[in-house]
Amino acid sequence: MASTLPFSQACENNRHPILDELRPRLKTALRLLEIGSGTGQHGSFFATRLPHLEWQMSDLPGNIPHLQLRQAQAGRANLPAVITLDVTQPTHLGQFDAVFSANTLHIMPASAISNFFECAAMHLPIDGQLFVYGPFMYQGLYTSESNREFDLWLQERNPRSGLREIDDICHWARAATLQLQEDIPMPANNRLLVFVKHAGY
Ligand SMILES: C[S@@+](CC[C@H](N)C(=O)[O-])C[C@H]1O[C@@H](n2cnc3c(N)ncnc32)[C@H](O)[C@@H]1O
Repeated sequence: MASTLPFSQACENNRHPILDELRPRLKTALRLLEIGSGTGQHGSFFATRLPHLEWQMSDLPGNIPHLQLRQAQAGRANLPAVITLDVTQPTHLGQFDAVFSANTLHIMPASAISNFFECAAMHLPIDGQLFVYGPFMYQGLYTSESNREFDLWLQERNPRSGLREIDDICHWARAATLQLQEDIPMPANNRLLVFVKHAGY
């Protein structure tokens, strides 16, 4: 039942703007891996709106039971059974054309972010795209007062969480052969970062 599933208002608010950016960039993609699917709202929505694409949800073990309910409720062939995936202990889940992850880099500890990019890269072909949505810092500065307050709230909740600096993100990404191709402004002071996998440096 829908009422038993966790719900994120942010997902409801950001799903259409994200879809507008994903749609033209995923025209030819057939399989996408989502890292940190959370409530599963993005997965079920994007699978419906991008029917040519198999959207593979994944997350830490604690989120799997409700994601399974969400997946069953959606009843879509292009939203397969959710997979357990911890980027710090990744198993190879096969080849995907693209990887997507929303609001994960400020939740996982900074020490896990290099694992995140390595995990994304290992599932992508050369020229495959990684989409990372969320709020970020630029040259040590917040892009809004609300992002500053959000960062303080995150760090009070868990000192290992917090908004990340774009230069650090690009450094971790490059080390995993992923190059920032686009940095797209999104509503509510968020960004959609698009990385492309290159051959090793
Ligand atoms: C704020 S939630 C975002 C959920 C969803 N993507 C969204 O936009 O609402 C952060 C997600 O990151 C996941 N996460 C944190 N650490 C992770 C790790 N090491 N590996 C995979 N996922 C992780 C959490 O389980 C959670 O689902």
